[in-house]
Amino acid sequence: MKAITIPQPGDADALVLAEVPDPEPAAGEVRIRVAAAGVNRADVMQRRGFYDPPPGSSPYPGLEVSGTVDAVGEGVTRWSVGDEVCALLVGGGYAELVCAPEGQVLPVPAGLALEDAAALPEVACTVWSNVFMTANLLPGQTLLVHGGSSGIGTMAIQLAREVGAHVAVTAGSAEKLEACKDLGAEVLVNYREQDFVEEVRAATGGAGADVILDNMGAKYLARNVDALATNGRLVVIGLQGGTKAEIDLNALLRKRAAVIATSLRARPLAEKATIVAAVREHVWPLVEAGRVRPVVHSRHPLADAPAAHREMEESGHIGKILLLP
Ligand SMILES: NC(=O)c1ccc[n+]([C@@H]2O[C@H](COP(=O)([O-])OP(=O)(O)OC[C@H]3O[C@@H](n4cnc5c(N)ncnc54)[C@H](OP(=O)(O)O)[C@@H]3O)[C@@H](O)[C@H]2O)c1
Repeated sequence: MKAITIPQPGDADALVLAEVPDPEPAAGEVRIRVAAAGVNRADVMQRRGFYDPPPGSSPYPGLEVSGTVDAVGEGVTRWSVGDEVCALLVGGGYAELVCAPEGQVLPVPAGLALEDAAALPEVACTVWSNVFMTANLLPGQTLLVHGGSSGIGTMAIQLAREVGAHVAVTAGSAEKLEACKDLGAEVLVNYREQDFVEEVRAATGGAGADVILDNMGAKYLARNVDALATNGRLVVIGLQGGTKAEIDLNALLRKRAAVIATSLRARPLAEKATIVAAVREHVWPLVEAGRVRPVVHSRHPLADAPAAHREMEESGHIGKILLLP
């Protein structure tokens, strides 16, 4: 098969299309003939040499795909050859074929194009597990999403809106904020011109955000704690603004607030299967009803993976970027 390989970490041209051996499904895995692969910020980090795949997993990038099951390993009971599916992966999605544990596979939601389903697994699983399973966002509460127009952000806005929460977002341009508003965000903060702490406090009668989904890490830590409401939950999922910062524990203590940081890729198989099952139960019906949709910004042939990565790093995109083998 053809796959995107990374012979040497580096800039976008480090992604090289190559002929490699077909993967064989192990026990409990299915093999998928890929229709589309989602591009994620983590793939950029992996390409640059800062986010190695876990031992034993595919060395090629790609954390999610859609496609058709073309082989099943021993003991697989839930999927058959010919099923149209999408899947959450630890790697290997930038390829014509990829294997996935059967618990990380989902059906293509009814009414959604096969290609577009590749834009769902990583964002749906990340948002559902963090915002709802971990931070327990409730109807009527306020969620602040940093990077509201990112792949993650576009899903977080829609799911929070669907449960009846209020959504505040940060983004770096008026166009991006407009897109967030169209998805259901009510409080729009241009982080280049406005202070999100002030804006979120003003919009919540001084209370602050009940849950914050953060992609920035260190750079926003102190201000995120300031922006939290009493009993608030700050969930850090990205470190785009660095890893080390001081925290004022007194501010946290007075608010009885929590700071949590998580990574999806490193979780054990059983935990991922639990998340995937919850996504199927809670998110899939919303997609099938046409209430939540994947926001697809662009599609590139697999061979043009370097162009797709440059597009992500230039950050002009709104939503997801797909690669098509
Ligand atoms: N922990 C996990 O399990 C997990 C899983 C998936 C994703 N993630 C993380 O989630 C984040 C989004 O991932 P993605 O794949 O959706 O990437 P993406 O589409 O490239 O999003 C990155 C976003 O960062 C925004 N940004 C840059 N500087 C900012 C700032 N100072 N304040 C607020 N936003 C800023 C960009 O928006 P502007 O252009 O508006 O600046 C862009 O929308 C990444 O940090 C990724 O690592 C974590």
